[in-house]
Amino acid sequence: MVARVIPVDPFDLVIFGATGDLARRKILPGLYRRFYDGQMPESARIIGAARSNMDDAEFRTFVEDAVREFVSKRKCEAKALDAFLECLSYVPVDALGTGGWKELAAKVRPDVVQAFYFSVGPSLFGDLANRLHKHKIAGPDARIVVEKPFGHNLDTARDLNATLAKHFNEDQIYRIDHYLGKETVQNLMAVRFGNMLFEPLWNAQYVDHIQITVAETVGVDGRGAYYDKSGAMRDMVQNHLMQLLCLTAMEPPSKFDPDAVRDEKLKVIRALDPVHPDDIVRGQYKAGDDSASYLEDAENPDSLTESFIAMRVHIANWRWNGTDFYLRTGKKMKARMSEIVVRFKEPPHSIFESDTGQSANELSIRLQPNEGMDLRVTIKEPGPGGMRLIDVPLDMTFAEALGEEVADVPDAYERLIMDVIRGNQTLFMRGDEVEAAWAWTDPIIDSWTRREDRPHPYDPGSTGPEDALILLHRDGRRWRDLRK
Ligand code: BG6
Repeated sequence: MVARVIPVDPFDLVIFGATGDLARRKILPGLYRRFYDGQMPESARIIGAARSNMDDAEFRTFVEDAVREFVSKRKCEAKALDAFLECLSYVPVDALGTGGWKELAAKVRPDVVQAFYFSVGPSLFGDLANRLHKHKIAGPDARIVVEKPFGHNLDTARDLNATLAKHFNEDQIYRIDHYLGKETVQNLMAVRFGNMLFEPLWNAQYVDHIQITVAETVGVDGRGAYYDKSGAMRDMVQNHLMQLLCLTAMEPPSKFDPDAVRDEKLKVIRALDPVHPDDIVRGQYKAGDDSASYLEDAENPDSLTESFIAMRVHIANWRWNGTDFYLRTGKKMKARMSEIVVRFKEPPHSIFESDTGQSANELSIRLQPNEGMDLRVTIKEPGPGGMRLIDVPLDMTFAEALGEEVADVPDAYERLIMDVIRGNQTLFMRGDEVEAAWAWTDPIIDSWTRREDRPHPYDPGSTGPEDALILLHRDGRRWRDLRK
């Protein structure tokens, strides 16, 4: 099966921070892949803008190197690459001064879709927005794209929203959470709302509990200074895990349209109960045989910041009252694995003898790696010897089920950038959503900060601190294994 590609309208995309790490690793290689697949028209223009003094030729060399490093060899064909590089140009721009803005204004075409990607720190968002307005570069339908961290807490997020709102309407602002661009995250909505099978059971009456895990094997080396001010709660839970939780728990929207979906997500966030300190376990990775500890990576021997967090969360509404949601995320763990596991209740009455081994159904939706789903069902163990029950997986790895072509799905960033050009905000966070997420997060962080709680040390390559296991054991449950 070959994936269908629908080209987008011609556009001008200005990338502020075009020489930075995100542009080099994700944005520019992603745009090339969309170009290679025929989705980005040849008349589109990508304009790099940053502080460095470069000309077009130097920028093209920079982009070519990035594409060769981050795009599979199969797609790096000279002809396609040359045609893509033709779409690129560069303007040195001073975000805090006057340099380069006139030149930029002269380049951006008024009669195509205009998008401005702020791939820079949030402290520059206001300066960029003001200058785009002052130099009349952004037309009335222009879109701006901003990255996390969107604020450090509720107050700073409100300030950022207010700053952007001075010159742009909400329907022009695209706040990226790249987890929403992941293939399986969208599949979660298809599975829930495109099938009759799951939705009737998707509530506290039938669901025992839900686990959401985003485990990483990498540490924070190289980003220690940023990370130490954030920790896993701000870096991952407030945004990525929160979005996964919303899509898992929300009511069916009346249609698949940006505001209908985001209204439902917002209701989930607003229904979250405050979290009791006993329901939170924070950790910090220790040094390994040849790897540094969190404290060394963060270059802060007294740091109380967590590189791991696990928590039990409740959603106070009719659908979910009584179902526990467990969230966990951490660095330097045993395996890189992100998944959502829905554990159903056991049948109300067993007709089999008590030692036959019956257990409960489990649906797991794997975001990465090996995107796919598996549903564990109970069957009779084959063979003679009476009625013994076992759990078997009905396993569907998308790559196997759909073939390599379709499994070679666009990376989150490239999908989201195409959505910006198409003007589709469904997979972007609305301002009120971000604020609601901070409103829930802030008191939790304040509470452990006040108590000066020290995170539990854990071994690199493990499943996190022992207490994270106990968090489930005390409820008679266990985490799904972290598998590669
Ligand atoms: C980023 C976080 O938003 O997401 C990083 O800042 C984290 O700390 C990354 O490593 C994880 O993304 P992915 O797509 O690799 O799961």
